[in-house]
Amino acid sequence: VSRDAVRASYDAFADRYAAELAEDPQDEPWARGTFAAFAELVGGPVLDVGCGPGPAAAHLHRLGVEVRGLDLSPAMVAIARAQHPAIRFDVGDMAALDATGLGGIVAWYSFIHIPPPERPAVLAGFRDALAPGGHLLLGFQVGDDVRHHDRAFGHAVSLDFHRLRPDAVAALLADAGFTEVARVVRAPLRAEPTPQAHLLARRR
Ligand SMILES: C[S@@+](CC[C@H](N)C(=O)[O-])C[C@H]1O[C@@H](n2cnc3c(N)ncnc32)[C@H](O)[C@@H]1O
Repeated sequence: VSRDAVRASYDAFADRYAAELAEDPQDEPWARGTFAAFAELVGGPVLDVGCGPGPAAAHLHRLGVEVRGLDLSPAMVAIARAQHPAIRFDVGDMAALDATGLGGIVAWYSFIHIPPPERPAVLAGFRDALAPGGHLLLGFQVGDDVRHHDRAFGHAVSLDFHRLRPDAVAALLADAGFTEVARVVRAPLRAEPTPQAHLLARRR
């Protein structure tokens, strides 16, 4: 699935995503704990990549963290700006960050759209955008399969959702110059089809 297809897909249902699917980390105890730890650990500005309508950025902002958001989808960015006027949101690709010296990067259920061959380069880009000692937080569904969607909310879309194994992601992170700090793997809640993982790492 090309970047253009990912962008067009999320543009097509950004309003429904924001209204029906986006979850505030505040509302889920493990996410709340993970973000609390991340907020305590980061020592500089944070970039929420693949921010969607901005729930993670907004949560960090409430915790007193200096945060900006970035998303491929202009429709998502427009919703994020409207819902969270105190936070800066930009359109952009997490695979082509131009930031440097960040205290933290969050990729909350967004790295899941990066195809396997691109993952090392994207993580190397995260490393380069972080200051030494900066923290990276990834959230993802645990599994081995790729779920392809070609319809969403009545729209024709093309999206791959990659489930990931924490050990495999941790190995990629180590290769990219990160040290693992913590991981949370929790059982499915409510109607979730898989366990969920939060992986926190620090740039060496
Ligand atoms: C499942 S949504 C998660 C949104 C948000 N983080 C949340 O927790 O609700 C995935 C988001 O990642 C964005 N995305 C996918 N690939 C991206 C890329 N290469 N660069 C930036 N954003 C991307 C999509 O546009 C979409 O808004």
